[in-house]
Amino acid sequence: MNGLLFVCLGNICRSPLAEGIVRARLQAAGVDGQVRIDSAGTGDWHIGRPPDPRAIAVARRHGIDIAGLRARQLVERDFHDFDWLLCADRQNLAVVRRRAPAGAPARVSLLLDAAGLGESAEVPDPYYGDEADFEQVFALLSDAADGLLQRLRQGA
Ligand code: 4NP
Repeated sequence: MNGLLFVCLGNICRSPLAEGIVRARLQAAGVDGQVRIDSAGTGDWHIGRPPDPRAIAVARRHGIDIAGLRARQLVERDFHDFDWLLCADRQNLAVVRRRAPAGAPARVSLLLDAAGLGESAEVPDPYYGDEADFEQVFALLSDAADGLLQRLRQGA
């Protein structure tokens, strides 16, 4: 796992949070230069926009700054530039699998599955939720980051 792309629908809530949390963990471990980390959305509605203010706020409450991130849409190159495309839910997993070019090297998986948190477990979409939903998503993504770091340490 030396290139991780986190994928959700809008790239303004779940995947930028995942990106920020995992990057912070890698920095804390002193290995952030060794793993390429990014995030993207399957949808195009929010391209160029910063993360949702509620996502920025929950990250900030936990000491992580994601305000500088900008949303982008998944592109074909991503299937070559990253070795893992980690999807927030089954809907996005299906879209990403459909868009995968034949023969591209990237492995496509549910994020929580790759993190060892359950085979078909999903990160719930907090977009129509409230602050508590964002806190719940943050906690889930923190657990996922721990699982991913463990895998990275094992050389997976
Ligand atoms: P995300 O959340 O996929 O976690 O970034 C959403 C953001 C925007 C929308 C849906 C989910 N939307 O419908 O615009």
